[in-house]
Amino acid sequence: GVGGVEKVLPQELSKVGPTVMLAYGGGSIKRTGLYDQLCTLLQQAGKRIIDFGGITSNPTYEKVLEGAQIVNQEQVDFILAVGGGSVVDGVKIIAAAAKAPKDLWEMEFEDHQFPTEGVPFGIVLTLSGTGAEMNALAGITNEAQKRKTAVVGRYGEFSILDPTYLLTVPEKQLAAGIFDNLSHCMETYFGRGNCVSDDMNEAVMENIVQNAMAWKQSPQDVNILGNLMWDSSIVQSSILGLGKDSDFQCHSIEHQLCAYTNCCHGMALAVIHPLYYKLVAKTAPEKFARFGQTVFGLDTSGSVEEQASQAIQALYEFIETLGLDHSFSQMGISVSQETLKTVAQTCGISNGALRTLTRDEVLQILTEGL
Ligand code: NZQ
Ligand code: ZN
Repeated sequence: GVGGVEKVLPQELSKVGPTVMLAYGGGSIKRTGLYDQLCTLLQQAGKRIIDFGGITSNPTYEKVLEGAQIVNQEQVDFILAVGGGSVVDGVKIIAAAAKAPKDLWEMEFEDHQFPTEGVPFGIVLTLSGTGAEMNALAGITNEAQKRKTAVVGRYGEFSILDPTYLLTVPEKQLAAGIFDNLSHCMETYFGRGNCVSDDMNEAVMENIVQNAMAWKQSPQDVNILGNLMWDSSIVQSSILGLGKDSDFQCHSIEHQLCAYTNCCHGMALAVIHPLYYKLVAKTAPEKFARFGQTVFGLDTSGSVEEQASQAIQALYEFIETLGLDHSFSQMGISVSQETLKTVAQTCGISNGALRTLTRDEVLQILTEGL
């Protein structure tokens, strides 16, 4: 809620050791004044501050290893992650890598072992949408291996979500976050299995759409921003995935595209989703029709196939309303056909999807997205 930092942070800081790493991104927190406010609170709590900025969007493994090294050198007791999904994810891996018995990437992807220890950390979220504050997974780019994937890190001790921080986020960036949030819902909803989780999911998706439309009309309304922020946390708490096999095919394609282009996660998902759904809707048209009715309020006239295609059209138009693009070139990504082929060959293929895609179909989606 509003004022969460002043209300909660001092008591949380009283529980942790004397050396605190203040981890952040490219500097937005300095421009908004949050950095100064946090430094004051840390100093008042008697902490020694280790400044660690420059965690970029789509954080790299190299950068988090640098952070982990500093944590050990400076004997950091606690990390405060201040930023969006990238900073939060970066810190999850800094925390785990600092205490891992060996290289974390090797440990997870070669030995299939996952971190059991880590440096404790807390989160002050300045951009919502990823829901990164609610889980221990981190989207990390391994530049040497040309691979972006989910790495298992540590959970935060607490997350402070003050929607007033969203007021300074550039409009298109926030729209990307809103779409990312809806994407997490859809990737779960259109996975295999039908149960009460789907009904809960529909309520959250409808709330995202309604509040996103309201936000376009009243971008400074903190109540609307608060709803969008909380929607994002609910989805990534995993509760909507209970009883389901999640899809996350669009995420797998996007992550690998990102390894080659460093694109904005939510913006690229907005290009990929409608193309993917056009391809797979035939497998479960009734589910897409139901999605159209409950999330976009479409009527029930016409065949179930027609309703399914109207639902995908409604999604497409929602993307437009958010001000997001329909192609990678509109997003400013220039990518060769050769690279798209590599992305299609190397991305993950989902086991929980309505239908398993072939690599050729992934390439078709990427090519149509150009
Ligand atoms: O770096 P700074 O200067 O802080 O600027 C950031 C960045 O340029 C800016 N920003 C953040 N808060 C702001 C602000 N600007 C003004 N005012 C504020 N209050 O916004 C830009 C984007 O930030 P970033 O953290 O990169 O965005 P987002 O929150 O969308 O995070 C994207 C990352 O999260 C991963 C993505 O793959 C991507 O790497 N994801 C993490 C997930 C998870 N852990 O559960 C799930 C998602 O599916 C996703 O994969
Ligand atoms: Zn996402």
